[in-house]
Amino acid sequence: MRTKAFIFDLDGVIVDTAKYHYLAWQKIAQELNIDFTLEHNELLKGVSRVRSLDIILELGNVQASQEDKNKWLVQKNDEYLSYLVDMDQSEILPGVIPVLEFLKQNNQPIALGSASKNARPILEKTGIIHFFDAIVDGNDVSNAKPDPEVFLIAAKHLNSNPADAIVFEDSVAGVQAANIAKMISIGIGEEKTLHEAQYIFEDFTQITTRFIQELINK
Ligand code: BG6
Ligand code: MG
Repeated sequence: MRTKAFIFDLDGVIVDTAKYHYLAWQKIAQELNIDFTLEHNELLKGVSRVRSLDIILELGNVQASQEDKNKWLVQKNDEYLSYLVDMDQSEILPGVIPVLEFLKQNNQPIALGSASKNARPILEKTGIIHFFDAIVDGNDVSNAKPDPEVFLIAAKHLNSNPADAIVFEDSVAGVQAANIAKMISIGIGEEKTLHEAQYIFEDFTQITTRFIQELINK
């Protein structure tokens, strides 16, 4: 059997931070008088901070100087970080820890593949950093999802071929990135949003150990 690579996105997959990204962006959008709905927010999931701001400005047809953009990027991150101050294990989404534990018990390599530059402190605060054999985040990549770079680097760190990698993602861009990399894509969330994924689960409580075992044996 060849070595598998189990790659997890962070925001919206492991931790319930997608809502904080949304709230922080919404504040910027409000200041700029840009209508920014939950539906618009789907376009931002998995997408880098810089690209997210561009998408919001495009939604509002707002032209801005680089100086203003830099200011809003800092403002957004400060606001986002303010939500993380008291973060602990309770922020981990239901069913995630049992899956990580099952993979560890079965000696399966685990990596993080996230667009976020705040990934490491989040894994530390929630006490789960020890599960990860490799961490690839927004500081390590130059191309944002749906570019597969982040997942390809993660698989490489785990000494696995892309075809043996399994990606858990809550974003359309992330599912597309996994598909482009020819990895198995597992969407976590709603079918109507993540229909491009090979498998879709509402959340990790719906994923059985039998399903994971089948992925390991594939
Ligand atoms: C992704 C989130 O994981 O990380 C996006 O889904 C976010 O919403 C991106 O914009 C970058 O995160 P950060 O923490 O570097 O701003
Ligand atoms: Mg995500």
